[in-house]
Amino acid sequence: MRKRILSSLYQEKNFVSGETLSKRLGISRVGVWKHIQVLRKEGYVIEASNKGYRLMSAPDLLLPEELVGLDKKVYYFKEVSSTMDVARKLAQKGEEAIVIAETQTKGKGRRGRSWYSSRGGIYFSWILRPTISPSHAHLVNLLAGLSVAITIRKLFNIDTTLKWPNDVLINEKKVCGILAEMEAEADIVKFIILGIGINVNNDISGYIKSATSLKEQFGKNISKKKLFLQLMREIEKMQPYLANPQPIINKWKRFSSTLGRYVRIIMQDKILEGQAIDVDNDGALILKTKDETLKRIVAGDCIHLR
Ligand code: BTN
Repeated sequence: MRKRILSSLYQEKNFVSGETLSKRLGISRVGVWKHIQVLRKEGYVIEASNKGYRLMSAPDLLLPEELVGLDKKVYYFKEVSSTMDVARKLAQKGEEAIVIAETQTKGKGRRGRSWYSSRGGIYFSWILRPTISPSHAHLVNLLAGLSVAITIRKLFNIDTTLKWPNDVLINEKKVCGILAEMEAEADIVKFIILGIGINVNNDISGYIKSATSLKEQFGKNISKKKLFLQLMREIEKMQPYLANPQPIINKWKRFSSTLGRYVRIIMQDKILEGQAIDVDNDGALILKTKDETLKRIVAGDCIHLR
């Protein structure tokens, strides 16, 4: 209901009478007023006069009612421990939804690290159910990283690059991290939880030297809503390519700042160094080590050496 009230207020840009809203929505004028009160509590500034209601400003939050055009079930939290954990529980119950939070108290990063999730960033986990084999699931990382890189380039015309497998960098500093957790059965993926954290309007470089936020790069606040909705569209466009990844891989390579570089790859049981020479069709990194042997690396942490 509040989504519909907001969409009326956004459309008119001027006063909309309580009567018009009540007719449009099929609720009483008192009902309309109650929803307006809730919206005000959420941070919307709505002027009321004898002409009706007029929207003056909206909070830059990813409230479900703001996400007009997104036809997905959204679970929204002002604060949560980690959207990954909430999404996993929902996925186990068979849901296909997006879990969004404004802040996380226990944000999860790759390889057991934590993810700094202060207010102003975008933090969400999307439950995906692609019909692919577990050996292809890793591609989701590349697909998501590429979608974020493309979205930022499109909206802000700024150079974004990708560090294998899925870090999005601006000026060599990390602006987005991606974590994909999979549950599989035999040789079929049951679900993948795709977690994306983007430093948007949060100050980050003071806390983590190797990171940056879009606000720090642009010197002004960015609309999280606009960024999020565009990113959803980009990810949706790319999903069909999970079954036929060649075009995605080719595009990923064009954004890559890893290929050609000397890198250190930290894996669960070992560390390898060498030149990153290619990414294969499953998204695995091909590394040429000092003794000229080629190693295929499916998962690991990559550090650019030179
Ligand atoms: C990384 O280490 O680069 C991955 C970071 C992933 C962070 C996102 S924020 C939304 C989702 N919820 C989490 O707890 N982690 C992921």
